[in-house]
Amino acid sequence: MGLERKGSELAAGRQCVTRMGDEGMRTVTKKVCPQGKLSSALSAYFRSYAKGAGAEDVHVPVFRALKRIQNLEQVLYPGCHRHITPSLFFPRVHYVDCDEKVGDIYRDAKALDFINDNKEYTQQTVVSFSRGDFFSSSPVVEEEYFDLVISLSAGNVSEPCGRYLKEGGYLLVNEAHGDAYRAYLDQRFELAAVYDEDSQQFDTSSDVVKECFHTRGGEELTKAMFDEIMLKPKSRRPNKLRFQRDAMFYLFRMKGEGKAIKPDHVQPSELQVPSRIQKKRRTGVRGCECNSVS
Ligand SMILES: C[S@@+](CC[C@H](N)C(=O)[O-])C[C@H]1O[C@@H](n2cnc3c(N)ncnc32)[C@H](O)[C@@H]1O
Repeated sequence: MGLERKGSELAAGRQCVTRMGDEGMRTVTKKVCPQGKLSSALSAYFRSYAKGAGAEDVHVPVFRALKRIQNLEQVLYPGCHRHITPSLFFPRVHYVDCDEKVGDIYRDAKALDFINDNKEYTQQTVVSFSRGDFFSSSPVVEEEYFDLVISLSAGNVSEPCGRYLKEGGYLLVNEAHGDAYRAYLDQRFELAAVYDEDSQQFDTSSDVVKECFHTRGGEELTKAMFDEIMLKPKSRRPNKLRFQRDAMFYLFRMKGEGKAIKPDHVQPSELQVPSRIQKKRRTGVRGCECNSVS
């Protein structure tokens, strides 16, 4: 991390900041609280994700890096809470959460203004939200429809929600709640890229990818190891369960026909491509509230 000096105010919600990093001085714009434009839902978002004026959600560089390597149009975010940040980067995001309190932000005019003022794309934004349990089989969203499913600290998302991904679609997942481990063991997915915090890029090189989920002793993650890992906090994990490389975020790809960003990644031999489940009609999201901003 380098030094940071705040500069002039730009448009509402943006501030010009000069950073002294390893590569010298760099001027960037940052999202800040849009003064005078906060609703209670948007205030709650800033309190959770961008603590303090001038702060930025830590996920911003992750979504930005993801967009750089792949054009992803339809995004599903199960267990979203009030985390509207993906809509700053992806025009069509469908949010799902079982907590009725968090739904307000997805229909909040100030929040939609914030997205519109700060989004990093030109298309019209479509934000939709369904309240419900993502484990249930309720037909809220069509299967095999989404280009990206986001699994961040919301428990076991990959298993029940993998079916919503198109072939070749992506799962962005963090280690919290063990979902990255689950995805690695899930035969439907292959690990495609690993987020590097220093460069703020996804690393797709096979050498790096192959170090993940392999212990320092060279063993590949197994279901038995996963069960043991889930019993202990990371700080108390024995050395035999420490991996050669850990990352904050991983990108998995749903195996199948879709375009891969990582053609050179060799899969672990025991992982098989499953026979595809019957194709469903791809008609999009049903049974949800939908809001657009242009
Ligand atoms: C710890 S918060 C994480 C929120 C957000 N993903 C983030 O990274 O900041 C977990 C969220 O997942 C939701 N959640 C957990 N299990 C769920 C389920 N089975 N169906 C729908 N939402 C769920 C909770 O209501 C909560 O809002």
